[in-house]
Amino acid sequence: MSSDRNRSTQPLLSSQFSDVEHNTAVQFKKYNNLIFCFIILAVCAPLAYILGQLFLKYIESEDFNTSREKISYEGIDTLLQKVLCHVYVLLYFTDGVVSDQPFTNDCKNRIVGYHINWETPTISVNQLRKLTHVILRYVKIHPNRTIQFVGDKTDKKFAEIKRAARKVNPQLKVMIGVGDWDSLGQSQSSITSLIKNKETKRVIQSITSFVALHDIDGIDVFWTYSWRRRPSEHIQFINELREKLTKVEVRNGLQKRFVISLALPAYILNNEYRHHLNNVISYVDFITPFFYNLPGLNHGKLIKFIGPTSPLYGGNRGNVDETMKYYACTTKKPNKLNMGVLFYGTYWHNVSLPFDNTGDIWTPTDNTAHQLAWRDFKRSGWSSNTISWHEQSNTSYIWNTETRTFLGLETEQSLRLKMMYANDNNIGGIAIWAIDQDDDGNTLLNVVVKETKCLKVEFNEVEYSCDD
Ligand SMILES: *[C@@H]1O[C@H](CO)[C@@H](O)[C@H](O)[C@H]1NC(C)=O
Ligand SMILES: *[C@@H]1O[C@H](CO)[C@@H](O)[C@H](O)[C@H]1NC(C)=O
Ligand SMILES: *[C@@H]1O[C@H](CO)[C@@H](O)[C@H](O)[C@H]1NC(C)=O
Ligand SMILES: *[C@@H]1O[C@H](CO)[C@@H](O)[C@H](O)[C@H]1NC(C)=O
Repeated sequence: MSSDRNRSTQPLLSSQFSDVEHNTAVQFKKYNNLIFCFIILAVCAPLAYILGQLFLKYIESEDFNTSREKISYEGIDTLLQKVLCHVYVLLYFTDGVVSDQPFTNDCKNRIVGYHINWETPTISVNQLRKLTHVILRYVKIHPNRTIQFVGDKTDKKFAEIKRAARKVNPQLKVMIGVGDWDSLGQSQSSITSLIKNKETKRVIQSITSFVALHDIDGIDVFWTYSWRRRPSEHIQFINELREKLTKVEVRNGLQKRFVISLALPAYILNNEYRHHLNNVISYVDFITPFFYNLPGLNHGKLIKFIGPTSPLYGGNRGNVDETMKYYACTTKKPNKLNMGVLFYGTYWHNVSLPFDNTGDIWTPTDNTAHQLAWRDFKRSGWSSNTISWHEQSNTSYIWNTETRTFLGLETEQSLRLKMMYANDNNIGGIAIWAIDQDDDGNTLLNVVVKETKCLKVEFNEVEYSCDD
């Protein structure tokens, strides 16, 4: 995906409040916590005293054969007190984790966030709470078939985020992402060429050791570009990866099942690919087809058509609806699909008005496309007052007649319609490219969380008329 080029829960049901409300609630909770802490302290000492007494009795009994002079009476007392109170203080500082347990209901929807910029900004605790899966695009597969962190000190940041995630949201799946592009938009095709060269075993070996070494939950492979080439080798790779990870689960007696997910392109409309899709979906946990206005893009250099970045409907060049319908009708498993949403827009200078409410929405151009993360929208001097609505595609845009600048972007309004669409069609999740492009208030992520209707796993009806 080219957005990377320019860089730029709560339970699904109980997260109906905004961050402001949430913070107020947390503040209130902190006062409560403070009182609670005093009570705990008051209870701690006597409790520790009693436990200490019991412990000493135990030591004194003939069964226990330790040199008892090492453990003094007061020692145990204070130790227990410290331990109990440290545990509590730890919970206190993790900002209401005790009573704010995520995902206690049985909603199976996924909210998947790609994090693409390993430098800055980082992931906030609020974001970690709201996601079910976070995919950190911090690594690449080196031609020598080892997984390497990209950038400076990325390994440390990776470890920090993982630690925070485990503390704040134990249900959150922490994954790495590899694939066609690295987060600088440089082609990262080594995984593809290695597969082609039948070097899959060593790549799979390096993935499994990485997953085990860093104690993470899985891997996402981003193949929106290379999937079309040699799909059967790609599927074989995923199949072998699944087998290997299952072996690791069994050997280590793990309760968890590693997650494997795929990001695939929108345009794969022929029968051969239908077959491949049905084949691969049984090995993976979910698939995200990404529709974005960049087909024919050559290493991030050329965008041929002006228009919305990711329209829900309209046009003759595909859209989100056609993409999701194709995947749902082919696989008959909408709950294994995510709808991909983009937290960035695309703009062009010096162009003619790209679309109106009639006819095709796309306009060819030779001008350079620029990408704009949602978080940079207001900062870069764009005004929200100038946003217009394009009904046919259900997207927002800005058209400046003086500079002849067109910007197509995802807004709260367009995102809300996409969420309704996903709910109506039993789509199992939303995958966001990328959460670091959201603003500090998580405006767009909040729309996703708030508008996600709880989906039970068994609910897998295809709502499309697939014969059309
Ligand atoms: C205590 O430990 C010593 C050395 O470890 C051992 O020889 C002795 O039998 C133990 N006594 C009891 C009561 O278990
Ligand atoms: C692979 O390449 C990386 C980066 O050059 C290097 O740090 C690593 O040691 C190499 N691993 C092997 C097994 O060659
Ligand atoms: C638009 O085109 C004019 C004339 O072709 C040029 O002078 C101007 O710099 C261009 N503006 C931008 C923003 O590219
Ligand atoms: C969304 O798009 C559909 C299909 O083009 C259109 O009928 C509908 O009016 C649009 N909705 C909004 C709110 O613009």
